[in-house]
Amino acid sequence: VARPKVTLKLATSLDGAIALSNGASKWITGPQARHEVHRLRAAHDVVLTGIGTVLADDPLMTARDVGAVQQPLRVVLDTHGRLPATSALVQSVALGPVCVVHGPETVPQWRTSLLDAGVALDEVALGKAGYVDLALAIANLTGKDLISSIMIEAGGGVAASALGAGLVTRIEWFRAPVIFGADARNAINPLGMTAIDQARRWVRVRVEACGDDLWETYEVQ
Ligand SMILES: NC(=O)c1ccc[n+]([C@@H]2O[C@H](COP(=O)([O-])OP(=O)(O)OC[C@H]3O[C@@H](n4cnc5c(N)ncnc54)[C@H](OP(=O)(O)O)[C@@H]3O)[C@@H](O)[C@H]2O)c1
Repeated sequence: VARPKVTLKLATSLDGAIALSNGASKWITGPQARHEVHRLRAAHDVVLTGIGTVLADDPLMTARDVGAVQQPLRVVLDTHGRLPATSALVQSVALGPVCVVHGPETVPQWRTSLLDAGVALDEVALGKAGYVDLALAIANLTGKDLISSIMIEAGGGVAASALGAGLVTRIEWFRAPVIFGADARNAINPLGMTAIDQARRWVRVRVEACGDDLWETYEVQ
């Protein structure tokens, strides 16, 4: 089986933050970067996020204003079944499919409410950290429906899980010319490394200006 292409998209301050300490995060990057993100969504089969991002931002995660012929499958990692039926994602299944990856212990009424709304559910075992296992979730996605490319657009939790498990093959990093400082929220939660050689060295394959922002693309060695 071919290794799925897993892109991690980040839109951060110059010093790699995705939100201030109070959670404020809109908008860090400018309109051109946001437009490119919509193009990237249209170019991937799946756009994947965590329940933390959904509860914080209530995103739609569709590819808009880029002439997308088909919307990506929108996937949420939601171990305990917290995605509200009133969320923009659930309310927009008519625009494109939504799938929630959840753990073995969720409330039946929650599952029914989402299924009734047209959302697909995928139950996955928990990994070491007590979240749904991301590698299993990705294997389930790529094992069916001709899915070969996934773009992760999530907060620091899912980004750290994906990087820590070595699942990311490409990084699309949009960096705005602002500095938030160490009291802000880093794009990537702790990885627990203790030696420099534990950090994967990425290959920068492209760098370009995108409005006022910088767009860097990295690939795995
Ligand atoms: N600038 C950007 O590019 C960007 C993009 C997206 C979000 N954000 C910001 O990120 C912030 C949210 O950060 P966050 O860390 O809470 O969001 P997140 O990474 O989207 O979600 C984290 C949550 O996802 C669930 N989860 C399920 N499986 C997981 C797994 N395998 N690994 C990790 N988490 C898993 C966990 O909750 P359960 O245990 O309940 O499942 C976890 O608490 C918001 O402020 C948002 O604005 C920024």
